[in-house]
Amino acid sequence: MDADKIMDICVRRGFLWRSCEIYGGVGGFYDLGPLGVALERGIKDLWRELFVVQEGGYEIDTPTIMPEVVFVASGHVAKFHDPLTDCASCKKSFRADHIIEEAMGRNVEGLPTEELDALIADEGIVCPECGGALAPIRYFNLMFRTSIGSTSTGGATAYARPETAQGMFVAFNRIMRTMRPRLPFSIIQIGKAYRNEISPRQGLLRVREFTQMEAEVFLDGRNIGTHPRFDTVRDETLRLFPREEQLKQDGVIVEMPAGEAVDKGIIDNPYLGYYLTLSKFYLLAIGIPWEAIRFRQQLPDEKAHYSRDTWDVEIETSYGWVEIAGHAYRTDYDLTSHTRVSGKDLTVFLPYDEPKVEIVRKAVPDKGALGKQFKSAAKEALEFIKERNADLVKVKDDGKSLEAKIGDEMVDMVPFIEVREVEEKVAGEHIVPHVVEPSYGVGRILWCVLEHALKEEDDRTYLALAPHLAPISCGVFPLVNRDGLPELAKAIEKALRDAGIDVIYDAGGSIGRRYARCDEIGVPFGVTVDAQTLDDGTVTLRERDSKKQERVPVDDLPLVLGVLLAGEGDVEAGCGPCAGCE
Ligand code: GAP
Repeated sequence: MDADKIMDICVRRGFLWRSCEIYGGVGGFYDLGPLGVALERGIKDLWRELFVVQEGGYEIDTPTIMPEVVFVASGHVAKFHDPLTDCASCKKSFRADHIIEEAMGRNVEGLPTEELDALIADEGIVCPECGGALAPIRYFNLMFRTSIGSTSTGGATAYARPETAQGMFVAFNRIMRTMRPRLPFSIIQIGKAYRNEISPRQGLLRVREFTQMEAEVFLDGRNIGTHPRFDTVRDETLRLFPREEQLKQDGVIVEMPAGEAVDKGIIDNPYLGYYLTLSKFYLLAIGIPWEAIRFRQQLPDEKAHYSRDTWDVEIETSYGWVEIAGHAYRTDYDLTSHTRVSGKDLTVFLPYDEPKVEIVRKAVPDKGALGKQFKSAAKEALEFIKERNADLVKVKDDGKSLEAKIGDEMVDMVPFIEVREVEEKVAGEHIVPHVVEPSYGVGRILWCVLEHALKEEDDRTYLALAPHLAPISCGVFPLVNRDGLPELAKAIEKALRDAGIDVIYDAGGSIGRRYARCDEIGVPFGVTVDAQTLDDGTVTLRERDSKKQERVPVDDLPLVLGVLLAGEGDVEAGCGPCAGCE
């Protein structure tokens, strides 16, 4: 389907448009209009149903601005960058790997800057805008930087979060204390993320502000080979595009049950296999056709700094295959990094069936030395030694240091401990959970849903959205604007709204034009009030895709529409299980 055609409908009919239009728009920012908001709500609600209601995830909502230290720990300050090249003539900036890809038709994401510079030189690639020479590539950090507070020095450095994930990692302890979950469990967040993309492009596909739906699934890394519910999905077929196939000239998508892919080691572990399968269920439920879905394994150069194996979910569109979600096995990278930087214990205690007596090596504080050094802050130092006991033993063994912030000072704590072997009744052990992360982008999904829903027939254009996703559920039309029909139609509109059904009332133009307007924005059902309604209390109920029509008693409409919107019954077969069709 032609992307321009969809964008035209989106802008003309109120799904979305460029933000700040009256000032010429801002690259990479879009407003969602009333229809876009409603469609996005449906996309989010279905995802929430799967990940929160069915899977039992703990949904939270954390700020979009976070202090610098969070992103130092996560690695984003050091590594969240893209290669940028500037044109020496027109001074425009470009994402180097994208212009190479456009020139050579080859994905070069993740290659080191020297290799990208060499490709630009060897292939004679020039500025795509003016043909000027391109400067050597430099890295550009994608985070939007800001500051918190208003001190004379300008406040504390902070960033708009580039992913919702970090809010969940830093809230990990609080979830442990408040919800008392057992591994494996997931924390969920749906919210905005920000990336100062070098070259936003392709409508909603690469923007600077977007909504993510992310699940951080925490698990015992030693059990990565057994997911508690993997058996329920192991026979589900997946359309896989593994690394090996991508590296072949004529690589193909391989259809294979999730269980076989995991058993053969194509997918690293059953957790990834399980969540890829959920992704399949989700995409089919929002109307993406099976043959337009594939799961592509990231090549080693593409993987994020924290990931051991990553599978992207891609949907085929007029722009080619578009990544709408990533599934990364992040190991214990996140919690370990936040432990190191925050100094807080982010482990989970796993009790043994029976306590064990063990000889353990402990960091024992030298209380005298602590008192002398820290005076009233000695309690803080003791707390640190308790919390980081195992780490202190390790650094002492390795002859290294471990600094703590006690009072206002950073102090190496190793001189204040002694490592002793002590006999201890051990009730369990502390582990740092590993993480598997399904991460979805809502805007990209919304675009793909629209692309696959848009149908063109000889005389009409319509959006074949699943009824439960359609921004508006039903149109109500008086056939003519007289003889009491508008009053009757208004009463029907009110009854449907009272029943919780979204309605659009349209009394303008011919009935054909009104149907066409509703078809174009995906309204799945239309109710026409005509002269017969006055006689026998029935209306015409029309279904969008088939254009089939049936007479239905007015009083039954809320029930009939409720059934049809739930995807049960159909207009042609008698509107489902309603009394009027018996
Ligand atoms: N926490 C992991 C993470 O953020 P990602 O692959 O960078 O992983 C996840 O992003 C999803 O967010 C992508 O699959 C995509 O759908 C969406 N996304 C990322 N950058 C985007 C952008 N600039 N514009 C629109 N969506 C984007």
